[in-house]
Amino acid sequence: MRGIKILGAGMYMPETVASNDWFSTILDTSDEWIYTRTGIRERRISEDKPNWYMAAEASRAAVADSGIAPEDIDLVLAATCSPDYFYPALSCLVQQQVGAVNAAAFDINSACTGFINALDTASRFLQDGDYRNILIVASERLAPHCDYTDRTASILFGDGAGAAVVTRSDKPMWSYLSAKGDFFNALYCKVDQSRSNCPLLKPDALPEGIIDTEAKTHTLQMNGKAVYKFAVDAMETAVNKVLERSGLTTGDIDLFIPHQANARIIESAVKGLNLPAEKVYVNLEKHGNTSSACIPTCLAELKAESRIKEGMKICLVGFGAGLTSGAIVFEQ
Ligand code: UT7
Repeated sequence: MRGIKILGAGMYMPETVASNDWFSTILDTSDEWIYTRTGIRERRISEDKPNWYMAAEASRAAVADSGIAPEDIDLVLAATCSPDYFYPALSCLVQQQVGAVNAAAFDINSACTGFINALDTASRFLQDGDYRNILIVASERLAPHCDYTDRTASILFGDGAGAAVVTRSDKPMWSYLSAKGDFFNALYCKVDQSRSNCPLLKPDALPEGIIDTEAKTHTLQMNGKAVYKFAVDAMETAVNKVLERSGLTTGDIDLFIPHQANARIIESAVKGLNLPAEKVYVNLEKHGNTSSACIPTCLAELKAESRIKEGMKICLVGFGAGLTSGAIVFEQ
């Protein structure tokens, strides 16, 4: 049986609050527009703490909550699409920061679906007797990627980190992962290669639909409508597929934690899946969309309130750039 148990969870949010009212001082927007269209009131922005700092803080909190020693962690998996360094991997910085001296470490980048892909990967490593405890951290500092003249995208995103320590369990777990690379240009951030001093380099050949001007390179570009349409369908499909694999129905699930992109996306998917709203956890009003960190920050908040209980069946579902999507059902 490919089961996982969450031993501990933790999170870190930067101090600086960027409210909708603050956005209305820099852009032609309003609290009313943003809240009505997205459900977001505020998000955090990390003014000076890098991604690795946030990831390490969330990880330390998760390890402390788990009660295990850092030396007993066998693998650190970091999910991020906004690392501070191309290399080394964010997971290596976290490994050093938390003192997980016996752990292997590597990163996973599937943007907002990162925690789902990392948890699925962790469960497969745990099946192998060599790995007992795995630290998964999802951490994003998206502020440096966002274009703060783009009122459609910049208002959605926030910075933050969430982490979980998981171990093997004899209880069941199922997953469904998907990618639709045909939509890669719906949400992207192109690396700026123009800083190179290699005399042979010319401007990059670009795939269809990718814009690379001085103003657009290295900033998040999004086709909001295309992502919205994909998101509702992808969340419903992923939940239906994972339930089909498990033989369970929505009625058997105690807690649904969706990716926190937009309250309207969550509401449409919840309606389409006929889920009872009281089983769906939403925290985006205060944090906005923290990409891969959304789901583990929800887990950390719920765990801190003792709302993750032994025997509960939990469904996680997410989507993101790629375009990727996925869902996991496990029994705690
Ligand atoms: O993790 C995945 C990340 N991405 C997503 O989840 C994005 C999914 N998409 C969405 O959440 C929505 O498409 C948005 C929130 C991004 C946009 O909402 P929408 O209801 O699809 O708005 P729209 O793009 O159709 O724009 C409607 C109008 C436009 O004005 P006009 O052309 O009708 O005059 C926009 O220029 O709203 C305008 N607008 C704004 N107005 C005030 C767009 N952004 C803003 C804003 N404030 N922040």
